[in-house]
Amino acid sequence: MSRYNEKFKKSISDPESFWAEAADKIHWYKKWDKVLDDSAEPLYKWFPGAEMNTCYNALDRHVENGRADQTALIYDSPVTKQTQKFTYKELLKEVSLFAGALSSLGVSKGDTVIIYMPMIPQAVISILACARLGAVHSVVFGGFAPHELAIRIDDAKPKVIVSASGAIEISRLIEYKPMIDKAIELSKHKPGKCVIYQRPEIKDKMKVNFINDRDLDWDEILLSAKPADCVSVKATDPLYILYTSGTTGIPKGVVRDNGGHAVALAWSMENIYDVKPGEVFWAASDVGWVVGHSYIVYGPLLHGCTTILYEGKSVGTPDPGAFWRVISEHGVKALFTAPTAFRAIKKEDPDGAYTKKYDLSNFRYLFLAGERLDPDTYNWAKNLLNKPVIDHWWQTETGWPITANCIGIEQMPVKPGSSTKPVPGYDVRVLDTEGKEVPNGTEGVIAIKLPLPPGTLPTLWNADDRFIKSYLNVFKGYYFTSDGGFIDKDGYVFVMGRVDDVINVAGHRLSTGEMEEVVSTHPHIAECAVIGAADSLKGQLPVGLVVLKLGVDAASETIKSDLIKMVREEIGPIACFKNVAVVNRLPKTRSGKILRGTMRKIADGEEYTMPSTIDDPAVLKEIETALNEIGYPSA
Ligand code: COA
Ligand code: AMP
Repeated sequence: MSRYNEKFKKSISDPESFWAEAADKIHWYKKWDKVLDDSAEPLYKWFPGAEMNTCYNALDRHVENGRADQTALIYDSPVTKQTQKFTYKELLKEVSLFAGALSSLGVSKGDTVIIYMPMIPQAVISILACARLGAVHSVVFGGFAPHELAIRIDDAKPKVIVSASGAIEISRLIEYKPMIDKAIELSKHKPGKCVIYQRPEIKDKMKVNFINDRDLDWDEILLSAKPADCVSVKATDPLYILYTSGTTGIPKGVVRDNGGHAVALAWSMENIYDVKPGEVFWAASDVGWVVGHSYIVYGPLLHGCTTILYEGKSVGTPDPGAFWRVISEHGVKALFTAPTAFRAIKKEDPDGAYTKKYDLSNFRYLFLAGERLDPDTYNWAKNLLNKPVIDHWWQTETGWPITANCIGIEQMPVKPGSSTKPVPGYDVRVLDTEGKEVPNGTEGVIAIKLPLPPGTLPTLWNADDRFIKSYLNVFKGYYFTSDGGFIDKDGYVFVMGRVDDVINVAGHRLSTGEMEEVVSTHPHIAECAVIGAADSLKGQLPVGLVVLKLGVDAASETIKSDLIKMVREEIGPIACFKNVAVVNRLPKTRSGKILRGTMRKIADGEEYTMPSTIDDPAVLKEIETALNEIGYPSA
């Protein structure tokens, strides 16, 4: 039996001994009573009874065991033209001090803290400081607008918000403080304090307005802070909440526990990513996304690696050689990013001329995830780099990969279009709509037989019922991934796309349902549909199809620009909502269901069969004409 098969089989047939063995890599104040508690099925708990601290495992443990002077974090910021390195000892000092500052503001075990930060070291310091105190952090991505932040404030009810004066998007400054003020104005829950880090490099360009004694300056509170020690928490206590898009405007608060998470991430660094303690691992993502949580912050540090926090893009900061520079300058062994970032490089440097300028000899692997890796991008990256290019599939909910080519166990042949095989711990199945398993090669919905492995979501924040309803009750005994796809005869998994209204724009997960909710509040809109249409750079882009109310005499161009502005203001620029078509009516079934899937096929220039339940087939021609007018299908 191959090494992969052996490990995979053991993880499914005897998950308790498999994960108990993996748990040896983690420091526990108290060992578990049981590895897996299934007494409240379908809700499972990993390592109940155990106590530990995630920050201790990520920092203190390494300082005590010989890594004190090894670089833990490299902040590489082409947008501010600086690089800053922190050894494990230095990072521990900063984290302990900020934890002390938070503690002096009344933050303690179980309290929630929202972190709304750009890609600066203080974001990582804040995250780890919360973990140190046993406080639950919830990082909100900076590209979300105040309204989105307000929704998260009301759900997480933070005692404190930690933020910074602003972000630098290539060369554009984006002020964060006014967005926080606006969000707090909109939210019902009011946080006790806001700690603002004033970025020195933009201090003279961005004056932070401290409103009242709610707002505190990061540097000032540190002056009187005393370092705080790690607080022992239960393995099953929440480490963080990360909100992600569902099908409605109410995002889902994915909960991550402490113990299972630490075990799974440490295991993944060795077995999936094949990096060793001391090596340099770079996830070119943002701390606001799950990739940033797992593989900028926690995974590499739990494993004693050097991690990189990169404040820049794959192109434009300053050129398409940016990634190669970082890899060669810092000796990166493995890079993890989204296919979009590579499509952007390919567009600007199709022959890969920039790779020739840098020494990439230490670079071993490229890992891609966050959206479907199209075979074209795979082949381009593979030919350019001549290194393994590894597609792996996962979700905010799982926190680490579901399928991958587990190169640390055994390198398997690649099939472009497939993210290879299930990672040990994940019993992946493809089901039909009735919940019956389909034969290999047949497309269906992808589900994972329960229990999920450690590190995956135990529930949604304060919403066990929603968790069960959305994920566990769809097919009894399975976790429903909301992705469709198939498994081929060799056991390779092909993930083809979401079966719900979630789309993936530049590797960012967004809800078209939420955009529809915003668009439909416009006074001139009678009804609307937002679909995700294929885009050669960003994978998908939202397209709005809107029907105006009878008698509206405003110019449709004005209405379009209003709608674009509304989505930008309500959800944020990250939604990339820029394409709107005004139509006379939307295609519907006789029972009134909007045929979004058919419209998406028209927008993508795909063949479609006329839905048998369509109310009036003539409407599809009207949709095609309207989409053609705004450039769809795109070339
Ligand atoms: N704060 C405020 N605004 C932000 C932001 C932030 N943290 N991040 C992005 N935005 C803004 C951008 O400035 C842009 O605004 P604009 O419409 O005014 O131009 C908008 O949100 C859309 O951003 P994005 O989709 O990222 O487009 P881009 O043109 O700036 O960059 C890529 C294109 C392909 C380089 C970039 O999307 C990319 O690298 N994607 C990879 C994503 C990734 O790593 N995903 C994580 C999973 S691994
Ligand atoms: P997020 O929760 O933001 O990580 O987005 C998760 C969604 O992104 C999944 O449900 C998939 O639809 C998509 N996704 C992530 N990785 C892949 C991949 N490697 N291949 C195909 N789709 C992916």
